[in-house]
Amino acid sequence: MPQQDEMPVRPNLFQRIRYSIFPGTLRTEKVREGYRRLFNSLILHFRPRNVPEETLRWTLTWGLGGMALVLVFLLLGTGVLLKFFYQPFPDKAYESILLLQKEVVFGRLIRNIHHWSANALIIVAFLHLLRVFFTGAFHAPRQFNWVIGATSFLVILFSNFTGYLLPWDQLAFWAITICTGMLEYMPGIGLWLQGLIQGGPEVGPGTLSNFYAIHTAILPASLLILMPFHFWRIRKVGGLVVPRPAGQDSGQRGTSVPAIPNLLVREIVVALVLIASMLVFSMIFNAPLGSKANPGLSPNPTKAPWYFMGIQEMLLHFHPGFALFVIPALMLVALIALPYIDYQANTAGVWFASVKGRKMAFVAALAALIGTPLAILVDEYLVEFATRLPAVPTWVTNGLLPFALLVVVTAAFYIFMKRQYKASNTDTVQMVFVLLLVAFLVLTVTGIWFRGTGMKLMWPWNIGA
Ligand code: HEM
Ligand code: HEM
Repeated sequence: MPQQDEMPVRPNLFQRIRYSIFPGTLRTEKVREGYRRLFNSLILHFRPRNVPEETLRWTLTWGLGGMALVLVFLLLGTGVLLKFFYQPFPDKAYESILLLQKEVVFGRLIRNIHHWSANALIIVAFLHLLRVFFTGAFHAPRQFNWVIGATSFLVILFSNFTGYLLPWDQLAFWAITICTGMLEYMPGIGLWLQGLIQGGPEVGPGTLSNFYAIHTAILPASLLILMPFHFWRIRKVGGLVVPRPAGQDSGQRGTSVPAIPNLLVREIVVALVLIASMLVFSMIFNAPLGSKANPGLSPNPTKAPWYFMGIQEMLLHFHPGFALFVIPALMLVALIALPYIDYQANTAGVWFASVKGRKMAFVAALAALIGTPLAILVDEYLVEFATRLPAVPTWVTNGLLPFALLVVVTAAFYIFMKRQYKASNTDTVQMVFVLLLVAFLVLTVTGIWFRGTGMKLMWPWNIGA
């Protein structure tokens, strides 16, 4: 750098102090502009130069994708710090966490941030999935980015699941025991897969070291590959969907503005507010830790982690083969295949596809909100006798029959709504998505808050009474 860019001839005391901290600040405007350009060109290696002004609206993205990214980084950072102290052996894991919390400076805080960020990530990534779906951002040319996103979501779920076991307390041990126990019902490969994941016939040292390796190496590496791929796809299609009112042509693109500062400032604000919130939350609320795992004493009720409670609730109503394999597998295939359906209209950028689509989604949400609790109650109190029918195998009475009933009811609802609204398949697919989504959420809420001892239905305030 040339000499004339240094300090003014006679800087005052404050200018001298400021200069000692930020040497660039007192340089001539011309040289400062040079530095700014240098910095901007660095940023522009991974941010676009210009972005359509409308895509900067909060009401398009809600900052959710950016939040997911920040949470992943928080998890990577705190996860690596936890690794310095954590010991993945059944006789040491629990004690290492106790010691981490008591003896290590900020040990408890680091664990709390890791715990709460992991839970927040599931919610944020799920909300991001919903915003992408409801703004039609999975339509061409973004189909494959939906697939990459859905895969990332699965990786996030498995990261949470494998992390759940690591503290090796009662909660962790029994939650993972029932989840890996569920694999038995997978036809054909279930038992083999169970043995492989558990690293032995039951949850033990093999499981802990498997989960530890998967949690701290394989899954983070997968995310670090998937995320740049996700962002690269966004750049390749020229940025995000441009929001537009229903009925307006998708060809119109408004003005573009420079990404620095318009986009960058927004991203930094979201990141700082989120990090500050996670920090404050983690200072107030401690990550739970039960008593040390005791393989001889199972708590009652034994529940899966909250994000799998919808599936555990289904287990109470369907034969395990259906609850754990047929239904989740179908849902997963449908989720991945969703962008490849031959849609009658490309509604990218329109919230809820169309005015009609919005009404249909509302009706579907209402139907699921009333229908699912009713179905749970009927099954709990009235259909008991069906399982006692002699000579008919339970996979028929408890599996095939209720599953067939589910398919018939959904199909009838579909046909009725399609006729009633004379809707395009874009609207009807959205309607079925909402129907299943709300039903699954009701199952999850029921499993988490309305099941007590022996997994019997009860009011949340009676649990433990
Ligand atoms: C680790 C998890 C994820 C991260 C870090 C992430 C990050 C992002 C970011 C930063 C954007 C830019 C716009 C925005 O913030 O909304 C975005 C867009 C997008 N994401 Fe994700 N995402 C993740 C998971 C998902 C999931 C679960 C899906 C769907 C199944 C998905 C599908 C998409 C699609 C299709 C776009 C383009 C949206 C548009 O053009 O408007 N992503 N993602
Ligand atoms: C998407 C990324 C990640 C998610 C969702 C996640 C999730 C979790 C969860 C839910 C726990 C249990 C926390 C508790 O209640 O105690 C945990 C523990 C742990 N995680 Fe992660 N994690 C992620 C990334 C990482 C990474 C990258 C590392 C290290 C390289 C790591 C290392 C650990 C360790 C050592 C523990 C045991 C300590 C403890 O349980 O407090 N994690 N993780």
